[in-house]
Amino acid sequence: MVVALIGATGLVGEVMMRVLEERKLELTGFIPCASERSVGRELVFRGKTYTVAGVEQALTASPGIAIFSAGASTSLRYARAFAERGWFVIDNSSAWRGDPEVPLVVPEVNAASLRASAKIIANPNCSTIQLVVALAPIHRTYGIKRLVISTYQSVTGTGAKAVAQLQNERQGKQGEMAYPYPIDLNCFPHGGAFLDNAYTAEEMKLVTETRKILNAPDLQITATVVRIPVLGGHSEAVNIELKNDFVLADILELLEKAEGVVVRDDPAGNIYPMPKYAEGKDEVFVGRIRRDVSVPFGMDMWIVADNLRKGAATNAVQIAEHIMKRGWVSSM
Ligand code: A2P
Repeated sequence: MVVALIGATGLVGEVMMRVLEERKLELTGFIPCASERSVGRELVFRGKTYTVAGVEQALTASPGIAIFSAGASTSLRYARAFAERGWFVIDNSSAWRGDPEVPLVVPEVNAASLRASAKIIANPNCSTIQLVVALAPIHRTYGIKRLVISTYQSVTGTGAKAVAQLQNERQGKQGEMAYPYPIDLNCFPHGGAFLDNAYTAEEMKLVTETRKILNAPDLQITATVVRIPVLGGHSEAVNIELKNDFVLADILELLEKAEGVVVRDDPAGNIYPMPKYAEGKDEVFVGRIRRDVSVPFGMDMWIVADNLRKGAATNAVQIAEHIMKRGWVSSM
């Protein structure tokens, strides 16, 4: 099976390559692609050196799985052309997530929404992925009525330029700014563009994507996205109001058994998830699980994951594994 990686030179692209190296997908070809300025650059993958190609060049190869992580405009421009030539496209941008014909997939939650005929598959936003992995078992059992989400997001979610801005500021160097303000020793409630309703694009992604993945169109959700000077992963403080009463110990048991979830919750031992320790891991870490004292059926939880791995690369590769397991793309 051939994998084309569009955006191979980016921050997520690089992690995609590492995740593809670690997991056992059998590949007969690998085509790293990037923008024109990177064509001809060399990248090492599974011990072999590959030359970065242009996207048009990959289109001429025999079809396999194309993983896109090069921004929404590149996905809008090329995804359909790949799909029409028989490729499965796993798209990490926001370009196709709202399309009702496009499955929006987190394998632990809704792998069942994958279809052989739906050639474009959307990988959700990083903060949505970790949220739904932790919430799905609770939603399935009790029904979630309302969510109030506050995120504490890593600069890695903005790409290589944002990491460089943080590092430059730490070293007292001048450089290109990814954000309108300094990020070191700072934080700002601003992720993505401001919309007409005064939310940001990242906040509304949490609302619409969570509803789609959990198949819960009436779920009430409000979110505030905050960027913080951290590298290892995104953190989320989530207030959850359930439709039915619950016993907290039962929720803990559900989470302990949930696929992809690790409970780190021992207040007496100062145990709770942190981005520094989630970095490089594929699991979603949850802690600070407690009853909300302000409403009858409420609870609070702190959710942390490496946004470049489970929030992007690992989730995309897991989708590729599902496609292969179902025999929709044959090994050639
Ligand atoms: P390049 O490195 O040549 O700019 P990040 O999110 O870390 O900034 O990475 C974005 C990725 O998307 C990079 O690999 C980048 O390539 C790639 N990219 C950006 N624009 C295009 C484009 N028009 N066609 C193909 N790849 C693109």
